[in-house]
Amino acid sequence: NKVPRFVKDNAGERSKPPPAGVRCFSPSPLSMKQFLDFGSENACERTSFAFLRHEVPVRLANIMKEINLLPDNLLGTPSVRLVQSWYLRSLQDIIEFKDKNAEEEKTTYDFTDAVIKILKRHNDVVPTMAQGLVEYKEAYGTDPIVSQNVQYFLDRFYMSRISIRMLLNQHTLLFAGKVKVNPAHPKQIGSIDPNCRVKDVVMDAYENARGLCDRYYMNSPELQMEEFHDGSPTVVYVPSHLYHMVFELFKNAMRATMEKYGDSTDYPPIRAQIALGSEDLTVKVSDRGGGVPLRKIERLFTYTYSTAPRPTSMEARAAPLAGYGYGLPISRLYARYFQGDLKLYSLEGYGTDAIIYIRALSTESIERLPVYNKSAWKHYKTFHEADDWCVPSKEPKDMTTYRSS
Ligand SMILES: Nc1ncnc2c1ncn2[C@@H]1O[C@H](COP(=O)(O)OP(=O)(O)O)[C@@H](O)[C@H]1O
Ligand SMILES: [Mg+2]
Repeated sequence: NKVPRFVKDNAGERSKPPPAGVRCFSPSPLSMKQFLDFGSENACERTSFAFLRHEVPVRLANIMKEINLLPDNLLGTPSVRLVQSWYLRSLQDIIEFKDKNAEEEKTTYDFTDAVIKILKRHNDVVPTMAQGLVEYKEAYGTDPIVSQNVQYFLDRFYMSRISIRMLLNQHTLLFAGKVKVNPAHPKQIGSIDPNCRVKDVVMDAYENARGLCDRYYMNSPELQMEEFHDGSPTVVYVPSHLYHMVFELFKNAMRATMEKYGDSTDYPPIRAQIALGSEDLTVKVSDRGGGVPLRKIERLFTYTYSTAPRPTSMEARAAPLAGYGYGLPISRLYARYFQGDLKLYSLEGYGTDAIIYIRALSTESIERLPVYNKSAWKHYKTFHEADDWCVPSKEPKDMTTYRSS
């Protein structure tokens, strides 16, 4: 396997940790400001090319090393093999440009072409990987240690994917067309809106979630929107990321509400609150759909956990309201990608508050990227010891044996 040249691991052996301290092939996180600079007046395709031809292979190779640490039986499934082959192809495609002359127009032109091809090739990584997990579970069942490793891996793998797509997408949006300005969003720099009006994105997501909800339940809860700021809060952000998160939260809130108030004609509204402070831009989506017990909250963020029936492939094409269980974990990755977070607080028996935290200052919005190193390696290889808290037994102890006679 041809990965090692781009990561600090010197051997292809799967059992060895990478040597500590070598940092030259760690990914370089970009700040929102750096993303904007790439797209500003004097930005040129050559600078972007020179950065990407190094950075993209580094990010690809770092995560490919982690794919290799997955259990053999999972690696052996046709779907995971397919995903792996896409990564290898794309790595090779970019490495082609290593020694090409950046001054030649043909080079940058071909590079942009390669970038578009890669974006397309990796379109279906998430459902294909999910399919691999299904194949693995069907053949080998589940085991808590594997599940824990897989959860750790998928969080990092999908985060890596979000980041690589962000880089590639910026490059094509800025340089693939003849005109730099996107006619649909003239004020955006690539996919970034320097004045993203949060309320507009929230409204848009609500309307679209409502459309789905109406289709499945013939009705939908109203929205109550509140903003806490002088003037409507704006933030430097990727509107499509914000949209993705609130859309998922609205779908969940609507489903919970409709399931709880099934037969009534009157539903408690969903509340959206938007606040802007000196550090945080916060969006809270609250429903009265009955909530989730605390014991289960963590589970909601695991991949493949869903209480909805799995959509049939027919429904999937028509965008289902729920059912894959990827809504919350992927949304949380989008929030964390620029140093924010997504949390769920529930009052069981009443409803749920889901909160998205975004950094208010663009200087603080810096990519959060996984890096393959010794600590990452340890996560896959360490023997998981017994828990260091007592497990309460179901049968209360017979206290009579302690009675002094
Ligand atoms: N607001 C909510 N109220 C009640 N349950 C929720 C809420 N949001 C999420 N859940 C629970 O979390 C599960 C996982 O949610 P999600 O990751 O969006 O996947 P999906 O919606 O596809 O099931 C849901 O199936 C549901 O049981
Ligand atoms: Mg959902």
